[in-house]
Amino acid sequence: MISENTYRFVEPLFDCVDLGAIEVKGRPEPVNAYQVIGLKAEPGQVRGLAGLESPMVGRDEELATLIQLCETVRAGLGRAVLIIGEPGLGKTRLITEWKYAVTRIGHEPSTQWAEGHGLSYGQGLAYHLIIDLIQSLVPIPAGAGEPEICNFIQSYAEDLFGDSALEVYPYLCHLLSMQLEGPALEQVRSLDPQARQAQYLASLRRLLLALAAHGPLVIILEDLHWADPSSVELLIKLLPLALEAPILFCLVTRPEVDAPGWKLVTTAREIMGGGLTEMTIEALSDVDSRQLVANLLEIEALPDDVRTHILHKAEGNPFFVEEVIRMLIDRGAIIQENGNWIAGTKIEEVDIPDNLQSLLLARIDRLPDEVKHTLRVAAVIGRQFPLRVLEQVLVGEETA
Ligand SMILES: Nc1ncnc2c1ncn2[C@@H]1O[C@H](COP(=O)(O)OP(=O)(O)O)[C@@H](O)[C@H]1O
Ligand SMILES: [Mg+2]
Repeated sequence: MISENTYRFVEPLFDCVDLGAIEVKGRPEPVNAYQVIGLKAEPGQVRGLAGLESPMVGRDEELATLIQLCETVRAGLGRAVLIIGEPGLGKTRLITEWKYAVTRIGHEPSTQWAEGHGLSYGQGLAYHLIIDLIQSLVPIPAGAGEPEICNFIQSYAEDLFGDSALEVYPYLCHLLSMQLEGPALEQVRSLDPQARQAQYLASLRRLLLALAAHGPLVIILEDLHWADPSSVELLIKLLPLALEAPILFCLVTRPEVDAPGWKLVTTAREIMGGGLTEMTIEALSDVDSRQLVANLLEIEALPDDVRTHILHKAEGNPFFVEEVIRMLIDRGAIIQENGNWIAGTKIEEVDIPDNLQSLLLARIDRLPDEVKHTLRVAAVIGRQFPLRVLEQVLVGEETA
């Protein structure tokens, strides 16, 4: 069971049932509670504001360049593009709009899209980015269990490679940590780790080339600043495929030059020559930021100094703009009346934090004490931990 506060973060990814208001020990008023039923088939957006949306402002030039790159690849040439920018400036949004625009244009042969994402806790998870990419390249049916996935990958490889499928699918399955059987298992087992890694690379090369033979292939590698070193090593060796096949590698990262993933950026600069496009996502201009606030909130009564204040603190970061507005809504400084947002009387009193970190800290500060305590204990345990450990520490405290 989860509370209203948590519901907002859980709801985009999980199906929940509203249990209505219930009495909670230590709370003067009933709290709205929800029961989590299970994972959503199609995950929703975690960022952004429900009911408050803005079309993408600015970024016209970047979008046009990306669309043009798809045309180049459709004409048979491989390319690479770097999209580099600080958190919250809109890298992911730009890519979403790009895919949407290219799909809407609908040229034949249609562009094939595959994506692998770095995970915030993933630098120590070997091959996590590659695994995510394979799951996007191979259309594994949703909800399939382990034996079905293996069978699916096998028949998919047989369609693509005929008799030589056995050189490909065992390694893809092995990367996905699937239980293999028979000759496939024997084959993978007989190799030492180095030889196995060479086979991972060979099978991925064959897969990418086979797909690119059907039409233009775009491979988006998102949040590379979180990529694990083993994925990066493989990707560095896959990148040269763009020199021989209509593949567009799109490398998306924060400007973190010490992250393992940055090696992929330097490799692209070394080998791609004129086939590399570099894009730096800058803060939104004043005019665009103003437009963004106007699109999100059509509030006539939003006092001018509050508007200017939001814009000043956000420094052109759209994520910050959204979060400030969310905070104003949470605190009742902006209220919805007959479907319109209006500024409440408290709007002048709300202190807008200076940066994203303080904004998030301020949000934590307003959580119920118990939740805050859990968060503090979790932060001490580390960035990544099994839930069990957190439970044990908290229970240990209670009985101590
Ligand atoms: N140019 C833009 N116009 C409107 N909203 C934007 C724009 N860029 C980003 N956003 C919104 O700001 C939030 C953060 O953007 P996101 O793409 O997740 O940033 P990044 O991937 O760079 O960390 C998202 O909710 C996104 O929809
Ligand atoms: Mg992003």
